Amino acid sequence: MNNFKFHARTDIRFGRDQIINLPGLLTAYGKNVLLVYGGGSIKKLGLYGQIIDLLKGFSIVELPGVEPNPRITSVREGVRLCKQHKIDVVLAVGGGSCIDAAKVIAGGAFYDGDPWDLVVDPSKIDEVLPIVTVLTLAATGSEMNGNAVISNMETKEKFGTGSPNFIPMASILDPTYLFTLPKTQTAAGTADIMSHVYEQYFQKDDEAYLSDCLCESILKTCIKYCPVALENPKDYEARSNLMWASTLALNGLVCAGKGGAWTCHPIEHELSAFYDITHGVGLAIVTPSWMRYILREKTLHKFCNYARNVWDFEGEDSMELATKGIDATENFFKECGIPMTLKEVAIEDKSIHDMAVATTNHNDMESCYVGLSTEDI
Ligand code: NZQ
Ligand code: ZN
Repeated sequence: MNNFKFHARTDIRFGRDQIINLPGLLTAYGKNVLLVYGGGSIKKLGLYGQIIDLLKGFSIVELPGVEPNPRITSVREGVRLCKQHKIDVVLAVGGGSCIDAAKVIAGGAFYDGDPWDLVVDPSKIDEVLPIVTVLTLAATGSEMNGNAVISNMETKEKFGTGSPNFIPMASILDPTYLFTLPKTQTAAGTADIMSHVYEQYFQKDDEAYLSDCLCESILKTCIKYCPVALENPKDYEARSNLMWASTLALNGLVCAGKGGAWTCHPIEHELSAFYDITHGVGLAIVTPSWMRYILREKTLHKFCNYARNVWDFEGEDSMELATKGIDATENFFKECGIPMTLKEVAIEDKSIHDMAVATTNHNDMESCYVGLSTEDI
């Protein structure tokens, strides 16, 4: 096992009606709140009204309209509001996009230049306003991690950035907020959770047995409960398990003692940068093909573990067993209703080469689990 640092500073309030804790969680940081949210789902949910009622004693400035695949233009507006209104704390209510935008806004509040600099170069992130989140979509893990992914549509760039100072101070996780998620977002969110696990499970370091077992449990949880949530969106047991899976998949827990570059995320970020597709859908498309492409002698043992421990398959022939696990992954995404080809999401052949070049230009793809060249991608 490699040495590691794991610092879980986020105050998690999980369960029904935990929103009542919001005023108490914010008070610690001040009265001037920037409320960051998306295109209106929190209003349909009734959450917006509830928050405004609960925060009567606070001064609230709003940044609505943060896009899925949040854009630097929204971040710039948020930074402007923070500076103008002397904001004390940034409150993000929504999915990963709102939370990610809130993080860069919170960093930008202390930065004199263009906040895009903080996306391109994380070393420029210094002081950050405290961030509190209310999560409404189980997917990214942004509610308990220091990452943010921001898009610049003008330059067709979508980059991840991050800082330990971006880790939210507190996050409210009420699974009933997931009841209104459309099937497409439920499925895409689950694919994202699973991909976070794959990126950390399939790594060169192979001695963190406990971390791998945790990975397998999260994958099994997604496979068990995503179909239940799709069938019955108000199934609390399914939603609560998916919500906690999202947080645990990317808060540093399952990569403890492991490490290494990711593969499918860098590729997907280019698909989204060029075509603005849903992150989890892009990942579901890329993942099974990636798995098949890197299946070889040196990865066989890991794919056999995956087939056995996650899918409960058995068999003597290792290649057959590993392939069964990969086929099951693809079928699972299909059965969840996710489009599984680039054509189905209107990605054209003519861009494939440019996106592959961008992937290798923006990332060190050679140090992934199995190193990939532009041609491989
Ligand atoms: O904008 P609103 O109206 O809120 O609607 C959203 C949005 O259209 C809707 N939605 C959210 N909660 C809902 C709901 N609709 C009904 N009921 C609810 N309860 O869902 C749509 C998608 O929301 P978004 O926040 O974009 O989804 P997600 O949480 O999947 O975030 C995706 C973004 O996160 C980045 C992705 O690249 C993408 O930009 N990622 C962030 C990571 C991180 N911070 O650690 C890691 C990930 O790998 C990922 O890259
Ligand atoms: Zn992701």
